[in-house]
Amino acid sequence: MKLAMIGAGYVGLTTGACLAELGHHVVVFDIARDRVAQLRRAALPIFEPGLDRLVHKTLSSGRLSFTDCIKQAIENVQAVFIAVGTPSLDDGDIDLSQIDAAAHLIAANLDPQTVIVIKSTVAVGTAGRVREIVAEKRGKADFFVASNPEFLREGSAISDFMRPDRIVLGYDDEQAGDVLDAIYAPLAGVAPVCRTSTADAELTKHTANAFLAMKICFANQVADLCEAVGGDVNAVMEAVGRDSRIGRSFLNPGPGYGGSCFPKDTRAFAHTGRSKNAPQSLIESVIATNVERPARLSRRILSQAGLMRGDAVALLGVAFKANTDDVRESPSMEIARELTKAGIRVHVHDPQAMPNARRVLGHEVDWFDNPMDALSGVDAAVVATEWDDYRRLDLRRAAECMCGRHLFDFRNLLDPAKARHAGLVYHSIGRATVNFKSDGAQRAVWSRGGVLPFPAAAGRP
Ligand code: UDX
Ligand code: UDX
Repeated sequence: MKLAMIGAGYVGLTTGACLAELGHHVVVFDIARDRVAQLRRAALPIFEPGLDRLVHKTLSSGRLSFTDCIKQAIENVQAVFIAVGTPSLDDGDIDLSQIDAAAHLIAANLDPQTVIVIKSTVAVGTAGRVREIVAEKRGKADFFVASNPEFLREGSAISDFMRPDRIVLGYDDEQAGDVLDAIYAPLAGVAPVCRTSTADAELTKHTANAFLAMKICFANQVADLCEAVGGDVNAVMEAVGRDSRIGRSFLNPGPGYGGSCFPKDTRAFAHTGRSKNAPQSLIESVIATNVERPARLSRRILSQAGLMRGDAVALLGVAFKANTDDVRESPSMEIARELTKAGIRVHVHDPQAMPNARRVLGHEVDWFDNPMDALSGVDAAVVATEWDDYRRLDLRRAAECMCGRHLFDFRNLLDPAKARHAGLVYHSIGRATVNFKSDGAQRAVWSRGGVLPFPAAAGRP
């Protein structure tokens, strides 16, 4: 089939390349001419594992192409996907201006009987909004609008597309359903297909993300409880997650959820609840708790490591999660800001995300191309993103490089015993802080919500 994709971002580019891999001919349109020119050279504007190879392959096969001309993009296509940005407005509602712009752009050039497929995450009712915009511009409703939300996680987007848990096809006209079935026919049998109305498909996406965000937020609060009572959150979540009604995934505590989806989708879900008089108090609470977490952990770093203005901290990881270069609403970026505000010199390293982070933090922090240089001479270190580079960190070398002894592992990546043997005071999430006593004996002490009862709180061990 011949398909068009409006928007060559994290989702549009990945989805377009995957649809081409399924055998379709996909023309990806973007208003950013420089981005189109870059993509025509198979130079990717984003980091997504495997996408480079997939774009090269489908580009050279002729099944994938890029354009900044809308007519060229949507002539003779059976479906036009919209995957433009849908960021938050100040009140938490979704900014649909890019969706509206894309709808206006499509309307003037659409062939009759084409299906407009909304891929971006949008508020419930957006399909109807797009239908009105396009019908008004065309003076007739000789087209269809469908909703096909994506469930792609950055860092595993290609496998999430090729082996989805389910495919959600939202349509209000059988003809649109037939076209969607044909598009996803190559994935027949790979995953169950959920057929819904467009409104239910839109709600499904927001509900799924709101629930996943709530799961993460709950895991973070259980971690806080474990720290207060001397529990081990990893052991607790392993045992809790064995319940098939709960499931182990998305129960890993950390610095809080970030990215371009959970934060904005939870705000949009809560906004929809408020505006439709169906308050989402659970998700409102999730949002408030998550927003506060990076500042709370920053205070913990300052107090537990006994830091003072002018001290230095190495911040390992600024991407909102591993295997992406995306720093949008990354909790680690918030920790960098909080420490800087406290007069701390922050040394930043990240394997992929520093170019994006540098555009935001600039000279507020210092940038290092490798972790050991970032660790050199610092008073404390923080692992904030679960990159394998940090999982494999040579802790003995790290301890030798550092001036202080405190290592905060906010992703529970590292082995406490190895950290201890390297001579570090190892702080993690939801587990005991471990440290050598002056006589070399080892003991575990429990951080009480950020203030340690042992000498380290009064200065450096
Ligand atoms: C977007 C939405 O933000 C998200 O809600 C949804 O889940 C997936 O699609 P993302 O792909 O990360 O996420 O957006 P972004 O990386 O900002 O890319 C959007 C692209 O659309 C940009 O390249 C932009 O230039 C392009 N665009 C934007 C258009 O081509 N036309 C427009 O009118 C506006
Ligand atoms: C999410 C959804 O998973 C995906 O289905 C949707 O299409 C887009 O939004 P993404 O934001 O790319 O995907 O990453 P995800 O892996 O969901 O992680 C989101 C945030 O939650 C990250 O900051 C991550 O570090 C955090 N997280 C995730 C946790 O803190 N603990 C977990 O157990 C899982």
